[in-house]
Amino acid sequence: KKKMTVLDFQKYKDEGRKFSFVTAYDYTTASIVNESDCEIILVGDSLGMIMLGYNTTVPVTVDDMIHHIRPVVKGAPDTFIIGDMPFGSYNVSKEQAIETANRITKETLCDCVKLEGGANMAPTIRAMVDAGINVMGHIGMTPQTATSFGGFKVQGGTPESARKLIEDAKALEAAGVFAMVVECVPSVVAKAMQEEVHVPILGIGAGPYVDCQVLVTQDLLGMYGDFKPKFVKHFANIRAEMIKGLNLFHEETLSGAFPTPEYSFNKAVEIPSVYGP
Ligand code: KIV
Ligand code: NA
Repeated sequence: KKKMTVLDFQKYKDEGRKFSFVTAYDYTTASIVNESDCEIILVGDSLGMIMLGYNTTVPVTVDDMIHHIRPVVKGAPDTFIIGDMPFGSYNVSKEQAIETANRITKETLCDCVKLEGGANMAPTIRAMVDAGINVMGHIGMTPQTATSFGGFKVQGGTPESARKLIEDAKALEAAGVFAMVVECVPSVVAKAMQEEVHVPILGIGAGPYVDCQVLVTQDLLGMYGDFKPKFVKHFANIRAEMIKGLNLFHEETLSGAFPTPEYSFNKAVEIPSVYGP
């Protein structure tokens, strides 16, 4: 597989070619995605929940992100890698946003950064793009600031809020993002956004009328057990398979069925007595 570039996002959209992106937070999962047909990995701050067991993405730090992005870049050399910017790492000033993006990019060699926010973040995004950073936007349900709209809820459900989302999408495009994630909005609203901007829309819980579908790998493979949002389809049931495998190991350990000579080092060795000859 040939690694996508920033320019391929627009190319795929213009050619009407759909694509997909998934998350990974570690070397092994990244290497599995790299071997699959999926072309893009997001090392999302969702790792706060999926990897670190927090209830939200808010506590995730830049150091956490770097710690997880590095092994993913190593494990998926043929896959486009997005590094997420965590809460508090870009909302102080344009300078802070540029410095955080510089650090994430230099220390991990990921292919772009992603941050949350609409028209309010447009000046920051403009400054980052002018500084030579590849920026992906993220609007709709933005988990880092979800407390301001009462939790993880569908956005754009009223004509006014739908209009605002379209304005946000346009502001991001004008600010220079090369693509944007749209999360948890009614399908018709995502479609309207899609029609009003030229850059690709990457939908998660945003219905079928977008350029790309995004899901968290641990969600789509049925690994994460805490909850399942409506928009998540289980394409496999890996959690159950893992529990089955663990139980089998446990059972064979107790029964002595494991390990057989096949899984043991069988060289005959004469062991000298500890009491001497
Ligand atoms: O952190 C994440 O996994 C994300 C996706 C939901 C787009 O931002
Ligand atoms: Na995220």
